[in-house]
Amino acid sequence: MNTSHRRTIRKYTQQPVSDELLNQLLEEASHTQTMGNLQLYSVVVTRDPDMKRQLAPAHFCQPMVTEAPVLLTICADFRRTSDWCAFRQAEPGYDNMLSFVNATTDALLYCQTFCNLAEEAGLGLCFLGTTVYNPQVIIELLHLPSLVVPVATLTVGWPAEQPSEQDRLPLEAFLHQESYLPYTLQRIDEFYTAKEQLAENQAFVEQNNKQTLAQVFTDVRYTKAVNEELSLGFMEMLHHQGFHPDLSQTNQTSLVVETRPESLECDVVRFQNNKEKWVAFVGLLDDAPYEIFTGLMDDEEGISLPKSVTKGRIIKHVDRDGVKRYDFQFENKRGYKTTVEGLSGKFNPEYWNYAKLISGVLRYKMPLENVIRLVNSLELDSDSINSWKTGVARALKRYIPGATPEEEEE
Ligand SMILES: Cc1cc2nc3c(=O)[nH]c(=O)nc-3n(C[C@H](O)[C@H](O)[C@H](O)COP(=O)(O)O)c2cc1C
Repeated sequence: MNTSHRRTIRKYTQQPVSDELLNQLLEEASHTQTMGNLQLYSVVVTRDPDMKRQLAPAHFCQPMVTEAPVLLTICADFRRTSDWCAFRQAEPGYDNMLSFVNATTDALLYCQTFCNLAEEAGLGLCFLGTTVYNPQVIIELLHLPSLVVPVATLTVGWPAEQPSEQDRLPLEAFLHQESYLPYTLQRIDEFYTAKEQLAENQAFVEQNNKQTLAQVFTDVRYTKAVNEELSLGFMEMLHHQGFHPDLSQTNQTSLVVETRPESLECDVVRFQNNKEKWVAFVGLLDDAPYEIFTGLMDDEEGISLPKSVTKGRIIKHVDRDGVKRYDFQFENKRGYKTTVEGLSGKFNPEYWNYAKLISGVLRYKMPLENVIRLVNSLELDSDSINSWKTGVARALKRYIPGATPEEEEE
């Protein structure tokens, strides 16, 4: 295939892209090389206009997301391979950074092979790098499970434009014979001057009130501040999707996940507060306490739960006006779900506020021994809140490795 005249296409005709053609190209692309022939990728096809509208903000509302007949989200995927291993008496060890890089390599090779085949068939494409800027939104909308991360999106359709070809650096700019040759000012001049002198690039510099084309990139298009913020979000997302940095070799604690996941597994811990029966919901991330909610167990006012309930999940719910609410959901033995809505509304605001503070401390990974010391050292003047803090400290103690959990109050 000759790629010397290819270009990105961002406008498409109304002509549909048939399933038959799309599937043929997607199947053909699977002959690309992959690690161990494991094909560590998955593709989600979006044709539904409503789903495209929902995905658009993740791509900064670039018009082709809603205008293209087909959107393909290409994912690095170690889920399927790990499930295969687990179902075949094999222990998968792919929840780490290297595995993420391997799956991303496979996914992008697959993606590019598809691009070549699709362009050869006359289709037009645009690669959207925004996929890795807002991956969490895409993960939630497409229901991507752990070990699956979106790494590229393609908008696909029949071309309705023929944009001019973009320039490229000359071969010598990126080719090194035998060893890497550093870039001196002279070599940079040699390779970049032609690009800088293009009329459209000069106009770009002027419109942005900059002195050089490079400044348009550093100060406007891809700034340090935005890159650093998106980087943090990306690391959190990787952690949440189950690709963890290998911390076993180092003394580092695991990464902080600042954005609370929509749903967290939780333990239900009962305790006595003065003469009252109380309950703590301890939200867990990677088996460590991430947040805690506490309140009165009471049929009338507070929360009433069957005794058998010791686990469940806390789900964050944001309504149309942006008002947040936390619901507790549990399953009975037969798998039927019950949801207790609005944990916050059921709790005394004073305890709720203390629990919020403690949750903040947990989220930022203060060692649990210190959190418990902090809770115990709170100087509170009512008896009831003093026994509350004892209950909270006791609920958290069970998560310290090696600590013997105290008997729960009946
Ligand atoms: C990693 C990556 C991210 C990109 N992201 C976008 C994007 O978000 N929006 C867009 O219109 N084009 C995007 N593109 C397309 C590039 O702008 C395009 O490939 C480049 O300007 C060269 O133009 P050409 O493909 O027509 O030769 C992306 C391409 C790559 C490889």
